[in-house]
Amino acid sequence: PISGSEEKEKTLAMIKPDGLLGNYTERIKEVIVDYGFSILREITAQLDQDSASSFYAEHSSRSFFPSLINYMTSCKVLNWIFLRIFPMPKTKKIVAFVCVFQAFRQSFDSGPVLVMVLEKENAIADWRSLIGPTDACKAKITHPNSIRAMCGQDSEKNCVHGSDSLLSAQREISFFFEDVSSVTTHRYDMFGSS
Ligand code: TYD
Ligand code: MG
Repeated sequence: PISGSEEKEKTLAMIKPDGLLGNYTERIKEVIVDYGFSILREITAQLDQDSASSFYAEHSSRSFFPSLINYMTSCKVLNWIFLRIFPMPKTKKIVAFVCVFQAFRQSFDSGPVLVMVLEKENAIADWRSLIGPTDACKAKITHPNSIRAMCGQDSEKNCVHGSDSLLSAQREISFFFEDVSSVTTHRYDMFGSS
């Protein structure tokens, strides 16, 4: 049916490892639905070094890049070691656990991410304003109702991602999903022209 001019937009949203580990997923999804977004697609992904580096390629020359990649990827070696530690007897386990903890402290922050395609009118800008500024510390002061204020920690561990432009949204959606057609749906008008 012809319904005036309705144009919906898609954007890529991601709940980062700290968001998943901190059990914020349900709360974040509630906010998403409350604000009128539809969740079109959803996958849990385990980013490796290559995929995280390529997703954040635009930041590859920045000083925070190595740390960002470390935060976004989980340590395979660590997962492997853990699988061996858990069956150990208690004392041995504690010693092993402390050693591993010291060695890979940073990797504890990491794990899988939940990636979603969100759709609504003005989805890209609206999702960006809902998540708040990059630095979650500042967000707690300047945007206390934002998602990053709610569950982020600092300028790196900021809990969620959102595409920052139409171009980024297109790139990032096709980075994770093969069959999500065009980012902007067609505009239907009274005369049916396309
Ligand atoms: P950026 O695209 O600038 O922020 P946003 O996520 O709000 O679009 O940066 C991408 C990610 O890089 C950001 O979410 C977290 C990380 N980052 C840091 O670790 N330190 C920093 O100083 C900045 C600017 C970003
Ligand atoms: Mg960005």
